[in-house]
Amino acid sequence: MPATPPVLVDIKFNPEGVARVLKTAFADRGSINLADPADRTRDLRDVEYALLWKPDADLFKRAPNLKVIFSGGAGVDHIIGMDGLPEIPIVRFVDRSLTTRMSEWVVMQCLMHLRGQYTHDSHQRQREWAKLIAPEAAEVTVGVMGLGILGQDAVAKLRVMGFNVIGWSRSRKQIDGVETFDASEFDSFLARTDILVGLLPLTPETSGFYDAGLFAKLRRNGALGRPVFINAGRGKSQVEADIVSAIRDGTLGGASLDVFEAEPLASDNPLWELQNVFITPHDAAVSEENALFRHVETQIARFERGEPLQFVVDRAAGY
Ligand code: NAP
Ligand code: GLV
Repeated sequence: MPATPPVLVDIKFNPEGVARVLKTAFADRGSINLADPADRTRDLRDVEYALLWKPDADLFKRAPNLKVIFSGGAGVDHIIGMDGLPEIPIVRFVDRSLTTRMSEWVVMQCLMHLRGQYTHDSHQRQREWAKLIAPEAAEVTVGVMGLGILGQDAVAKLRVMGFNVIGWSRSRKQIDGVETFDASEFDSFLARTDILVGLLPLTPETSGFYDAGLFAKLRRNGALGRPVFINAGRGKSQVEADIVSAIRDGTLGGASLDVFEAEPLASDNPLWELQNVFITPHDAAVSEENALFRHVETQIARFERGEPLQFVVDRAAGY
């Protein structure tokens, strides 16, 4: 019987963690780790499954017999559009730990803006005892753009904190206790939103989407005074020059950004020094390697038993 080909892994994050977990993952077939110099020039022609995050540009040429591609994260914009991408299923990473981490980040950012944390931080630096009277969460409407796996979990957890939550997505969703809007109701959704949370995938439609025109449509007379923009979807969905102008001219009262047009964010980018802007380095919801490799093992087992793969990307929609 021919040997089962190893799983190809080309992941451009946390090489130590990936190497450690790969020692025990895929025990039945082994793996080729392109981050390992000993594996870099291996023959990939027999490989059937590839787990990828920002793969090498020539990967599909080197591995022409793939049956399934697994994304190392929830997003697939790093693969879609690559030269030579074969017409085979692409499976996203969907996992409880990733979803939970994203909701922690979203709730934390909303609370920081609600409670004026930036101002508290600056008072603390000056050893100044200055109470702030913040509105209650129930007085503030958080509008979540993208009601997929991450958006819906964030909605549920924001509601537990007491925020009034509304949601917007391409197709309308039914969520108990949450007013939802579809793509055609863009303006009315924004007009009700005090804190905008972006959890959209990057596609041609969402590229450059969060811009000056959108910020100007957010509610301006809410309990926070000025609207806040929070984005953990993808950086290329935001126009950073417009965020900078909107913060400077008061169109936005604050922002929290985990993703950027170009990553890492350049040290001279004006976003670093804007008041009431919280910046995190694309770590809102990292892929935990144990969970990631278990998910790939589960999906390969399903595929080989003839069961449908889960979390398959809609190639036409791009996510
Ligand atoms: P998902 O389950 O595929 O959900 C995507 C949501 O966006 C869906 O509700 C979809 O609408 C909506 N959408 C897509 N295109 C749209 C458009 N043009 N107009 C309106 N709505 C649109 O994805 P997910 O798992 O929640 O992840 C969302 C994104 O988060 C990922 O693609 C990735 O970019 C990002 N992410 C970031 C991090 C981080 O650490 N910062 C970590 C993980 C993921 P429908 O429901 O109608 O399809
Ligand atoms: C991270 O950005 C992901 O898409 O999982």
